[in-house]
Amino acid sequence: MKTTEIRIIVHEFKTIGELPENDQNLLQEARRITAMAYAPYSGFHVGAAVLLGNGHIFTGNNQENSAYPSGLCAERVALFYANANFPDSEVRTIAVSAAKNGVLVNDAVKPCGSCRQALAEAEVRFEKPIRIILDGQDSILVLNGVESLLPLSFSKKDLASPNTPR
Ligand code: THU
Repeated sequence: MKTTEIRIIVHEFKTIGELPENDQNLLQEARRITAMAYAPYSGFHVGAAVLLGNGHIFTGNNQENSAYPSGLCAERVALFYANANFPDSEVRTIAVSAAKNGVLVNDAVKPCGSCRQALAEAEVRFEKPIRIILDGQDSILVLNGVESLLPLSFSKKDLASPNTPR
């Protein structure tokens, strides 16, 4: 038996003003679009802003449905919107914000497992790490790659890996 430790690195900022200017702008976009989320069932409003390598910014928010699984999270709305328009431009950064009753959540918002998987796909697709900015009142978390959000992720590399019959 062998035990391996996998380390993730999380940078924590106290306020938006401490972030680099580009990140501040992107997070402001995520905050702005949060207010337009369609979330009548959860009342949890999420906004995401994606910066592509070509400089374009795409925003999205959660879109809920009375048949709950038919809805979609803000991160995937923004991510798919961005790459639907620019399939050849890598995803540089995604900023995510969330609010309840119009007020930014205390704890930094954490993307769900499916959104982490979608971000992992975008990273492998363009072979470039994606910066992830997660907004909250108590702290703003910044990760420099999806590896810190989804260690041991499944990707096309696994689909292609050889297997040996025993
Ligand atoms: N949600 C997001 O849009 N992103 C997240 O990071 C967490 C959860 C949405 C899905 C659903 O509309 C609502 O928040 C409650 O789960």
